Amino acid sequence: MRVLVTGAAGFIGSHIVTALLAAGHEVAAFDALLPAVHPDPAAARARLPAAVPLTEADVRNPEAVAKALVGIDAVCHQAAMVGLGVDLDDAPLYAGCNDLGTAVLLSAMARSGVRRLVLASSMVVYGEGRYDCPRHGRAPAAPRQEADLVAGRFEPRCPECGEQLVPGLVEETAAIDPRNVYAATKAAQEFLASAWARAGGGTVAALRYHNVYGPRMPRDTPYAGVAAIFRSALAAGRAPLVFEDGGQRRDFVHVRDVATANVAALDWTGAAPPGAFRAFNVGSGTPRTVGELAAGLAAAVGGPAPRRTGQYRLGDVRHVTASNQRLRQELGWSPAVAFADGLWEFAESGGGR
Ligand code: UD1
Repeated sequence: MRVLVTGAAGFIGSHIVTALLAAGHEVAAFDALLPAVHPDPAAARARLPAAVPLTEADVRNPEAVAKALVGIDAVCHQAAMVGLGVDLDDAPLYAGCNDLGTAVLLSAMARSGVRRLVLASSMVVYGEGRYDCPRHGRAPAAPRQEADLVAGRFEPRCPECGEQLVPGLVEETAAIDPRNVYAATKAAQEFLASAWARAGGGTVAALRYHNVYGPRMPRDTPYAGVAAIFRSALAAGRAPLVFEDGGQRRDFVHVRDVATANVAALDWTGAAPPGAFRAFNVGSGTPRTVGELAAGLAAAVGGPAPRRTGQYRLGDVRHVTASNQRLRQELGWSPAVAFADGLWEFAESGGGR
């Protein structure tokens, strides 16, 4: 099959290109090579295999997208602004790249008759993770109060009795509750894709990525994830700074496992009935704490031990971890990279490769 990968020169997109080629697909790449993400565009171009043609354009450009879709059977849409952003001044850029970009792509796909889409979504569409109260059962986690955070009370509490809530695994059936601009743009991408599928008989697999890490992860930008921030600190001989008490839980999933999830999802789009939209959580299935991540990376490079700062970011969720059962059962996917191995490789990869 001939697959167009948008954002193909990026961290996740470039690994997807490799995985698709390994699975026997033909791949065409589409990437704007934004300077903020690719300070060295020549290096980004060189990373793509010679057999993969690159359209260097913005996904908001309808003519470029229409041209790139000629002869294409399916699209794997990874092009997006990621991370939490700096402040609300970023909102138009996020909405433009992520939502206008997706709308332009979908309308071009409708005109070209391309009916299969794998969409890069995110766990952030759920907002806070799943929680249960030991006494009251399933409990909604209200945003944490600043007074609690200042006092070092980081765990969300039951709105009924004030008891500390117990974190659980979010399933795809959980309500969507985006709580920041980036999350809102990811949720909107899903809604746009679902509307497109219904209107034109397309099929969409929306992959809700957990915290992806691995070689080529972007670093040293305000949009970098915690794994890249810790690695940069260690590379400079500094201790990783762990916010809160380090007990916040995430699911750190390796980028090569995310790439194989995309290949499996692509197969699913071929078998699904017209109009189908299905979301899949993409995570390792094993929650880790941010403290564990810091300690693991520090050990891997023999660097200074992590320092807990007690600092907090008001917008941060305390815990969010997903169930990957749907992805395992329906797509036959399973993660291949063990956390310890992935951390060692990541610690040594230095960000450039
Ligand atoms: C991340 C991604 C988001 C993705 C989501 C999926 C980034 C910036 N955000 O959000 O795009 O959709 O996962 O679940 O990649 N922390 C520290 N020290 C630091 C920086 C952060 O301890 O120097 C802590 C934060 O307080 C937080 C945790 O690390 O508890 C994770 O932060 P971050 O990497 O920014 O990611 P998420 O908010 O999980």
